[in-house]
Formats: sequence, structure tokens, C-alpha cells
Amino acid sequence: MKPEKIEGNKKSCMQPQTKVLVSCRGLDGEENVLAVGYCGNCSYDPPMVMVGIVPSRYSYKMIKESGCFVVNLVDQNYKETFDYLGTHSKRDEDKLAVMKVKLENGKKVNAPILPDCPVNIECKIVDSIMTGSHEMFVGKVEYVHADSKLVDDEGNIDFSQINFI
Ligand SMILES: Cc1cc2nc3c(=O)[nH]c(=O)nc-3n(C[C@H](O)[C@H](O)[C@H](O)COP(=O)(O)O)c2cc1C
Repeated sequence: MKPEKIEGNKKSCMQPQTKVLVSCRGLDGEENVLAVGYCGNCSYDPPMVMVGIVPSRYSYKMIKESGCFVVNLVDQNYKETFDYLGTHSKRDEDKLAVMKVKLENGKKVNAPILPDCPVNIECKIVDSIMTGSHEMFVGKVEYVHADSKLVDDEGNIDFSQINFI
């Protein structure tokens, strides 16, 4: 017998949701990282991903003005850092220093990658849409860094080895 359906809450109703860290660099060179749950693949060919950023985030202006960002996939080893970066703003404190977040330059875009995350996706913004609470930035994937143990001879990434948060 089928279970009875009743109406549920509309908010964030598409689950499960990937959670990532988005890293960015403003025009003045300041770097930042925030947690993002509104994100996903949005084109297979050419490869594109999108991230939703609330305009009040300190990172928003950096991403908007620089025209690029990096999506970092996060595993359980980085959960404490993820939670901190998603609950503290760089407007109030140097949260990257507090959590000793390591950054390295991207190869193709002017934004840092998080080398302690297993996969880093460098993106150049090609479009955006203000959906409501979030501005969805569409990023063309310019380069994907992946831990070597995850990648086969053809460059395919074995995501099953990542213990996602
Ligand atoms: C699980 C989780 C998911 C989040 N998803 C988003 C998101 O999709 N978009 C967004 O703008 N903020 C999101 N946030 C909130 C930001 O990460 C948070 O406000 C952060 O402190 C912003 O940092 P900033 O002000 O230094 O940019 C999320 C936070 C958590 C913990």
C-alpha cells in the first residue's frame, strides 16, 4: 500500500544537496572562502557549474567583480573547517587565519584553490541570474584539479573514493 502524501515545506526541498566551499579573490587581492549548498552542474558540454551566492555575503562583491570563482569539493576531514567558514564572515574576522586555511593560486583564473580539498574546479563566470534570495553564477569550467589517487589514465575522477560531508 502506498504511503499517504501531505504537503511539505517548499524551501530547499531538493535534497540531498552537495555542499562545497567556494573560494574567491577580490580586485584588491583579498581572498575569501564560503560554504555553499545552492550549487550544481548546469551544462555537460561545455562543462559548466553554478553557485548561488546571497548578495549580503562578504564574498559576493569579490565574485561579482572578479568574474571567477573556484568550487572545492569537501570531504569529512575538512568538515570542521567547512562548518566554520559557513558560519563566520570575513567581514567580522580573518576566518581563514583562524582555521589555518591553506590557499594556492589557481592555474587559469584569478582565485585561490584549497589544496586540502580533493577536487578544485576553476570557473570563469559567463552568466548570472538573480533568482530571489540568491544570485546564481554560471561558471564555465576552466580547469579541474584532483588528487592523483582519484584520477585514472583517461582523467576520469573516481568520486566514490571521496567521503563527502
Ligand atoms: C551548509 C551551509 C550551506 C550554505 N549555503 C550557502 C549558499 O548556497 N549560498 C550562500 O550565499 N551562503 C550559504 N551559506 C552561508 C555562508 O557560507 C555564510 O553566510 C558565510 O559566513 C559567508 O561568508 P562571507 O560573509 O565571509 O562571504 C551556507 C552555509 C552553510 C553552513
